[in-house]
Formats: sequence, C-alpha cells, structure tokens
Amino acid sequence: MIHTNYLVIGSGIAGLTFAVKIAEKFPSKTVTIVTKSDENESNTKYAQGGVAVVLDTKEDSFEKHIQDTLIAGDGLCDFSVVEMVITEGPKRFRELIEWGANFDVDASGNFDLGKEGGHSEYRVVHHKDITGYEIERALLQRIHQLENITLLTHHFAVDLITEHQLKIQPKEQVTCYGAYVLNEKNGTILTINAENTLLASGGIGRVYGHTTNPVIATGDGIAMAYRAKAAIKDMEFIQFHPTALYSSEGSSTFLISEAVRGFGAYLRDKKGHRFMLDYDERAELASRDIVSQCIDKELKKSGDTHVFLDCTHLNIAEFIKHFPTIYDKCKSLHIDISKDWIPVVPACHYLCGGIVVDQQGKTTINNLFSCGETSRTGLHGANRLASNSLLEALVYAHNIYKHLSKNNTDFSPIEIPDWDDKGTTITEEHVLIQHNLKEVQALMRNYVGIVRSNSRLKKANIKLDVIYTEVEELYKTSKLNTSLCELRNMINVAHLIINQSIDRKENKGGYFNIDNIH
Ligand code: FAD
Ligand code: SIN
Repeated sequence: MIHTNYLVIGSGIAGLTFAVKIAEKFPSKTVTIVTKSDENESNTKYAQGGVAVVLDTKEDSFEKHIQDTLIAGDGLCDFSVVEMVITEGPKRFRELIEWGANFDVDASGNFDLGKEGGHSEYRVVHHKDITGYEIERALLQRIHQLENITLLTHHFAVDLITEHQLKIQPKEQVTCYGAYVLNEKNGTILTINAENTLLASGGIGRVYGHTTNPVIATGDGIAMAYRAKAAIKDMEFIQFHPTALYSSEGSSTFLISEAVRGFGAYLRDKKGHRFMLDYDERAELASRDIVSQCIDKELKKSGDTHVFLDCTHLNIAEFIKHFPTIYDKCKSLHIDISKDWIPVVPACHYLCGGIVVDQQGKTTINNLFSCGETSRTGLHGANRLASNSLLEALVYAHNIYKHLSKNNTDFSPIEIPDWDDKGTTITEEHVLIQHNLKEVQALMRNYVGIVRSNSRLKKANIKLDVIYTEVEELYKTSKLNTSLCELRNMINVAHLIINQSIDRKENKGGYFNIDNIH
C-alpha cells in the first residue's frame, strides 16, 4: 500500500500541469503520478496546431474568441465556463513559457499566430507542428526537478477505490480513496491510498480504431468513473477531424493539422472540385463538425474512400518552415506536396463530453477531480473549437490546484483491502481480447460514426451486449493485464456513447442522426 496526498492518473498536459503546481505549493506533501506508458506518451504529445489564446488584443479580443467558441459549440456551451477559460487563458499560457516551453515568433519577435477552422482571427500559438511535444518536454523537465513528485511509468490504473469497490454503504455521497494500479512490469496490483485523486487520463479515440489518437486513448478514466457512479455527459459528441492522412489499412492515422487549411490549403474531390465552397461561405475553414460531415456526404455520393488536400499553390519553403513534420511524413510516403495532393479522410479525434466537473474540476464523487480530455466542463458544447483543449486543460489544472490550496480535504482514513484476485488465472486467451477489440472498433465505425440513425444505434447496442458478456466473463476469471482492462473500459465507453446518442433527439454540432431530421 502506498499513501500519497495527491494521486494523479495520467501524464499529459492536464496531469502534469496540476502536479507541478500542487507540488510547488506544498513541498512537504507527496504527489504520485501514475501513467500507463512512457512518461510522455499521451494525446498531448501529438498536438500539432497549438493553443488558442488571445494574446494580441489589437486585432483580437476575448469577445471574439468567446463568440467563436459558442458558435462552434452550436448552442450547447456553458457561457460562464467559456468566459472563464478564455479570459484566464493568457495567464495560464504564460506559465507554460515560465516553465520553459518555446513557441514560434515572427521576425518582429511577436508570437507567430496560426488560424484554424471556426476561428475569426489568427490566435493559435504553436511550436512548428509539434506543439504538444514541446509542451510535454517542458512540463516533464519541471516535474523531474520537484523532489516531492514520484512518477510511476508503465503503471495502469485499474479502478478507483470507493465505497462501491469496497462493498460498503457510502455515507451521503460516494468518496474516492485512491486507486488500484497494475504495475505492468511485474503484474502486481498496488493499492494507492490518496487524499485527493485527479483523473487526467485523456481521450477515447481507440474505441473507433480509425483515429488520430495514439494507443493510450482508451477512455480508462471515463470507464473507471462510470463504474464508480460518477456523472458522465455529452458522450455522443465525438469530434471527427476532417483531415487525417488516408491509409488503406484504416487504423491509427497521422493528422494533417487544420492549421494547414488555415495556411491556405484547399479540399478537393478526385476531379479537383473545391467542394467546401458548395456548403459553407467559410469553405475549408468552417468548423470541424461541418467540414467532416460535408466530406462524409461527398464520399457517400462518390463512393470514394478519401478526398484530397491541395497545397500545391502554397509557398512550399514557408510550408516546410511551419509544418516540417507533416512535410516529412508525406515525403516518406512519396507524396511531394508541391506537386501531389494529400489523400485525407475524417477520423475520430476528440471527445467533447466526459466526466462532469464544476469550475473547480470537482466530479460528483468526493475527493475525485478530473481535468483535460477526460472531463466534461461545458466549454465545448456540441463541438470543440480547434485548439481550445490544451487551453482548457491548463485553466482547469490551475482551478483544481487553487481549490485544493484553499480547502482542506475532508478525509477520514478507512481500511482498504488489497486487490482480490483469488480464483483467477493467467489468461491464455489473448486472441479473444484482440478479436473482441476489433469487433468493438468495427461496430463503432460502422454503426456509430459521423452520421447515425436510430436503427443502427439499436443494432450497435445489441452487438455490444454480446461482446460485453463475453469480456466480463474473461475479466472475472483472469489475472489482470493491460489489454484486457483497456478492452473492458472501451466497452464501457462505447456503451455510454451509444446510449447517450440514443437519448439525444436533436442534431447539434458533431452529433448528426438522420432520424432527427423533421
Ligand atoms: P492526454 O494528453 O491524452 O494524457 C492522458 C494520460 O493518461 C497519458 O499519459 C496516458 O498514458 C495516461 N493514462 C490513460 N489511461 C491511464 C490509466 N488507466 N492508467 C494510467 N495512466 C493512464 N488540442 C489542441 O488544443 N490543440 C492542438 O493542436 C491539438 N492537436 C491534436 C493533434 C492530435 C494528433 C491529437 C490526437 C489531439 C490534438 N489535440 C489538440 C487534442 C489535445 O491534444 C488533447 O485533448 C489533450 O492533449 C489532452 O490532454 P490530457 O492531459 O487530457 O490527456
Ligand atoms: C490540428 O492541428 O488540426 C488539431 C487541433 C486540435 O485538435 O485542436
């Protein structure tokens, strides 16, 4: 058993930012970060476009950024949250610079601001096309300087410890006492007892298979919180990024940043028609939900597998300066962007919903907080404005830290038993795990994609139930391993997406159901 003051699950921008702040504030308290892969492996690491933040108040203003966010969110954003995040954003962004993160500046020394879909101004601060990698580098450097932080890599959080897990009756509200964590190197399960627990475990992209997200994005935090009975909302609002690099294998895919369209690239069908002009006056820079839905329509009409992003009219030397990683990736696939169009297709990219939190990042469970992509703050509504998520994570990590600095945790120690794995055996059924994972991904792609229908959602539920029963049986009889736990979590997340989709009777932002057209 490990005792810690603060348990942080996840080492992306959300978890690391909170850990740095709380560890600096309370040097005598302990912060334990658990993360299931290498220390920097996260969605954050792959963020390309940058951080949307109002820094240049001559051209831009908080009002404009607020309006853009509200329009993208299609009427479902929480106004007070939008206002708070956008006005606090510049202060939080500058802290990243104090911790050593570098962002591109122009010849006059001002931030080189990019533009993305749905933004009325240039306001996206970036580090070439590897913004997230740079942020992770700076945050991890700071983490390693702080002696009261322990960072446990390859440690997988299996479940939260609550009265529910301990099979006792909660007093009034359920309380979180930490988490059971699998040490992936030796297979043992640690009991980590914490006064406060932060779920900062990121997104869910892998539930769809065809995604811009890395393999860690399996929705573990949301599934754990759901099993512990926390409120979860807006799971139907899956954001599909319009321009993932097309691959005939159809699995994890490389992102072609929206900033490339902000730089002037055009979307074309295979005949060369610039089809976005037919749909929206903002053309390629309409918000992401609209561009993805239009591409989906075009593909259904033509029967093609992808459309194209045309950069051939752009200044290629400048392109390489801004987007060296994208340029190199295309080149490695023999796509010369000065002559060839880039094949692109929408892919699952971001979850707008998640664990319900208030403005202090508090969940509906005592002593459990959530931050970053795992959480549902109300900022994004039905569709996130591009580059608002890194900003959201910075602001909420700060709010949670502020809250915990001012308020003593109501924490009464209780007896926590070790993880009970009596009667389980090491599973010989890895093939079954892989097989069921592929089934979940296929059903989510085919029945719960960009365009949904009531009958497809119902069919998805029936198919998922069969997989659920088989996997629960395996879970109960097996010694835990990461892939089995991830599969179980993805099934929980798929269940939430399907059922919250069924409950939504109106099309909004990223949610489109043909049976809601009246
Ligand atoms: P993550 O960065 O995903 O971190 C989650 C962490 O939790 C990881 O360390 C993971 O290993 C760990 N974890 C997960 N489950 C467990 C478990 N069970 N036990 C232990 N550890 C666990 N947003 C922008 O604002 N601007 C952009 O330009 C941008 N570009 C993007 C480009 C790509 C390709 C992708 C995929 C996303 C992009 N986004 C962008 C979205 C943004 O990167 C993410 O929403 C954000 O980084 C999420 O941060 P996070 O800290 O919440 O989660
Ligand atoms: C991108 O660079 O296109 C991704 C930006 C984001 O997801 O916010």
